[in-house]
Amino acid sequence: MTDFGELEHYSAGDLLSWAVDCYGDQFAIASSFQKEDMVLTDLASVAVAKAVSPRRLRVFTLDTGRLPEETYSMMEAVRSRYGVTVESVFPDREEVERMVAANGPNLFFISPELRHCCCDIRKTRPLGRKLRELRAWATGLRREQSATRAHIPKVAEVDEKIKLNPLADWTASQVEQYTREHGLPVHPLYARGYASIGCAPCTRAIQPGEPERAGRWWWEQGNKECGIHFDANGSVRRGVAAQPDH
Ligand code: ADX
Ligand code: SF4
Repeated sequence: MTDFGELEHYSAGDLLSWAVDCYGDQFAIASSFQKEDMVLTDLASVAVAKAVSPRRLRVFTLDTGRLPEETYSMMEAVRSRYGVTVESVFPDREEVERMVAANGPNLFFISPELRHCCCDIRKTRPLGRKLRELRAWATGLRREQSATRAHIPKVAEVDEKIKLNPLADWTASQVEQYTREHGLPVHPLYARGYASIGCAPCTRAIQPGEPERAGRWWWEQGNKECGIHFDANGSVRRGVAAQPDH
């Protein structure tokens, strides 16, 4: 496995330039249109503009089929601001049909196992499919967001892909500041008290003083992760989901 230790000292912009130059069209931003993703997209657009060879900005989103309406407005905002095709990745229709027929549309409220099954089918497996066409990808994960994320590296090889977390050492206020200074579009749900935004049924606003991710799967205790970055035990993912079994 390659040692990416030296890249730990790179700024977010320099890391994105490195990825754009090294991996070209096989590098993309994973976006759910939260503030971090908008910062990443903006920095990546700068990296693309100043790349040594002609490069294209690539942004993909895992459209679970349960996203809030406001997330689609953000998709439009990104399309028009950056002139980019947002690559929507959908879950496998038959897997969703089988899962919903067996457990109902709101199975995530029934048990943690069924919640993870839904995240697996609607997010993790589609991500695995998308990553097959990429060599490297970037996420908006920050160490400050939760204990699970406290030690994420800026660059690592995960499942044979180069995964960048260029904002790993950014604070929430740095994200705010960049957003303001660059006039970035902001997901409308932040104004309604949301601090972290995922699928509509599984995300709520938080109260002052609550942890940033308290509104995600708020009825569950413990590990608030969906499986695309960490497994159900909070360990860094090593393998993307296998064959459908639900
Ligand atoms: S999650 O694993 O609980 O959903 P979170 O919402 O904090 O993660 O987002 C962390 C990063 O994961 C985002 O900045 C983004 O890069 C990526 N991500 C999360 N959800 C999606 C999605 N639906 N599509 C694409 N990328 C996503
Ligand atoms: Fe399903 Fe909720 Fe996970 Fe979205 S966040 S994939 S609706 S369990």
